[in-house]
Amino acid sequence: MQRLARQFVLQAAAVFLAFSIAWPFYALRVAEWNGAAVALLAGGSAFLLARYAREPWWWQAIHLCFSPLVWLGLQLPISPLWHLLAFFLLFLIFRGALSEQVPLYLSGARILAPLAALLPERARVLDIGAGIGSLLLPLSRMRPDLHLSGIDNAPLPWLIGRLRVPGSGITWRWGNFRGHSLDGYQAVYCFLSPAPMQALWEKACREMTPGSLFISKAFPIPGRMPDMLAGRGEDTIDTLYVYRIPHRVAVSIRVFAPVSG
Ligand SMILES: C[S@@+](CC[C@H](N)C(=O)[O-])C[C@H]1O[C@@H](n2cnc3c(N)ncnc32)[C@H](O)[C@@H]1O
Repeated sequence: MQRLARQFVLQAAAVFLAFSIAWPFYALRVAEWNGAAVALLAGGSAFLLARYAREPWWWQAIHLCFSPLVWLGLQLPISPLWHLLAFFLLFLIFRGALSEQVPLYLSGARILAPLAALLPERARVLDIGAGIGSLLLPLSRMRPDLHLSGIDNAPLPWLIGRLRVPGSGITWRWGNFRGHSLDGYQAVYCFLSPAPMQALWEKACREMTPGSLFISKAFPIPGRMPDMLAGRGEDTIDTLYVYRIPHRVAVSIRVFAPVSG
């Protein structure tokens, strides 16, 4: 969320900068504002600020295009209600992008076989951020012995998944994965983004039984060597990073009182 707030601040600063330049410029010429030029100026400023702040390249690209696209959208000869509707629809689908920086995109069929091969017999498996069930449904057909569950908190994907799973044996849950206990799962699968990985790993280590599997597609846990790589090669969108939950180390400190006399 902190990172997202940073992007809002960058955009706001760029728009403020563009208006601060445009206002005296057009006022002194007593001329009409050129909306396209101001939007381009705001986009360019946002891009430079994002570069200066060392944001990842894709944030820089979003900053560059944001103001010009907003301006273009406002030129469309349609009722403003359509903009509201589009916003509402995007929110229903991509809610996860707001809270966790995890939008909806699908795992794809290529990792199904390598994933199925990793999962122990009759294991309880959870897909964290299960989307529309596009991973769990084919997995349930490939490995009918597994007990599969999925959880998601984006309304539309969750609803589509809910309508698709009956008859598959998949348990379909609504909610934020941060509030869902991982206790009792022998394997947890996720395809999210770099943003929540560290916190998720710490949660898995607290709640899962040592020796259970934590499998992340495409996004490794920062600073931790995976126990195994599966899927397609290293560092690709189809790499499965496989971690075993480590044993908890119990540390006991004994304090000896000095023996008097
Ligand atoms: C990249 S998609 C993966 C979909 C599916 N697991 C697959 O592999 O095809 C990530 C999903 O995580 C969901 N998500 C993001 N943040 C979440 C959260 N805090 N709790 C539950 N689901 C979340 C998003 O709504 C999205 O559907």
